Amino acid sequence: MNTPGRVLIVDDDPEFGLVAQSLVEVEGLSAQLVSNGDDALAVCSAQACDVVLLDLMLGETSGLDVLREIRRVAGNLPVIVVTAHGSMESAAEAVQAEAFDYIGKPFRAEELMSGLRRALDWRKQRGKGHGEQQAKPANAPSIVGRSPAMVAIYRAIALVAATDSTVLISGESGTGKELVARALHDNSPRAKRPFVPVNCGALTETLLESELFGHVRGSFTGAMSNHRGIFETGSGGTIFLDEISETSPAFQVKLLRVLQEQEIRPVGASDTRQVDVRIVAATNRRVQDLLNSDDFRRDLLYRLSVINIELPALHERREDIPLLVEHFLQRLNAKFGRHVAAPPQTLDWLSQFDWPGNVRELENAVERAVTLNVGGKLLPEDFLQFTPMPLTRTIGTTASSSVSRSVSAGTGANGAGEPIAASSATFWVCELPRSLEDVERQHLQAMLRYTKGNKLRAAELLGIGRYSLYRKAERLGIDLNQED
Ligand SMILES: Nc1ncnc2c1ncn2[C@@H]1O[C@H](COP(=O)(O)OP(=O)(O)OP(=O)(O)O)[C@@H](O)[C@H]1O
Ligand SMILES: [Mg+2]
Repeated sequence: MNTPGRVLIVDDDPEFGLVAQSLVEVEGLSAQLVSNGDDALAVCSAQACDVVLLDLMLGETSGLDVLREIRRVAGNLPVIVVTAHGSMESAAEAVQAEAFDYIGKPFRAEELMSGLRRALDWRKQRGKGHGEQQAKPANAPSIVGRSPAMVAIYRAIALVAATDSTVLISGESGTGKELVARALHDNSPRAKRPFVPVNCGALTETLLESELFGHVRGSFTGAMSNHRGIFETGSGGTIFLDEISETSPAFQVKLLRVLQEQEIRPVGASDTRQVDVRIVAATNRRVQDLLNSDDFRRDLLYRLSVINIELPALHERREDIPLLVEHFLQRLNAKFGRHVAAPPQTLDWLSQFDWPGNVRELENAVERAVTLNVGGKLLPEDFLQFTPMPLTRTIGTTASSSVSRSVSAGTGANGAGEPIAASSATFWVCELPRSLEDVERQHLQAMLRYTKGNKLRAAELLGIGRYSLYRKAERLGIDLNQED
């Protein structure tokens, strides 16, 4: 007899398997635990389970291969993919291979149970036909991060990309909103059509309206000819309305109408035109704040945020900082033909800061550090010179011992490192045990950059002779020819 509620757990980590098993059994479901793909396939083809909880990393075997085999032998049996190795590719691939759902380790018990319940309900109701998950291409490798928060974002992208639903992406500045908007487009059936970003905050109301909807000749001063708007020229594609919360109330009314009617009326025109675009909007305000504010229409907000993807601030996913730094290093090395690497200590050191400008700030910091670096090994000092803003750290996010270390000697050319209280909770931080030699090296490098590699001029400014400069450079391990 087929009693729904039989969970097959496939995991080669016995500890995790047993934890999952007990969670499932506590909820009144039955659980069977296997540790490899072959055993899993045997259970599935014997139709001895109703839902599978599948680990993506099964020793040598890829869980994705097992998933494809399950599809072959057991049709639409719902499979929930679990992995500690979240990445955009694996999330999208799992959805493509028709996984029912995707959760990242570590997860909360409720998360697991709600996934299992949904899978079992689905099986009860629709288990007869073929699964209805959509296959989607996966290609957004430039989004980096494996934290549970990012895994949830990948999953959202993979699930909604193929639909035409309007998506509102919210998140602080620099958290990757535009990147996610592009990933939604690139993974959608509209991928071959244009992706058009429009910065709503940068245009006046009239200009924005005419840019988006077009205008007819003579409709306002300066409208010398008919102009087709982005909603028409971008037909079939995705329009990314960035900084949507900066638009005027009058514009918001017009946009709402367009979204509801799926048609536009160019400025000054009497006729309307059907449009076929997907709208993805972004704001760096929280949706909850927008709901409570008077300057953004609620009806438009509801219409825009059919799906809301909220991106985490970088300090909420510090574990991704090393990965991001490595990613940017790879890109910069390729771009500049360099071989700069970051030792683990530097990665740890970077991970403790707040990065209020989020990934963009980190990206710029890495680029600056690579530019300033000599010797190929990224060190904290590379990050402390010529920074527009000192690095900050919120008290309480790291061990108290490191906080007390944080108030230390001033360093950089711009005074970075002054222990200034920026707010009750934040310090400008610079912690460098610095030797005289470090300071000399840094100063000499800065001087050579200032003189664009002109050794004679550098020696002059330093008040030393040319040969002293050579000797000093050699002692400090500075290659003078690389400084050109
Ligand atoms: N997860 C990520 N992986 C790799 N790069 C990222 C990630 N998130 C952001 N970036 C990079 O950081 C920079 C800022 O990202 P993006 O422009 O998408 O942010 P944003 O949220 O739109 O910022 P703003 O609100 O200021 O417009 C870009 O160069 C982007 O490539
Ligand atoms: Mg942006």
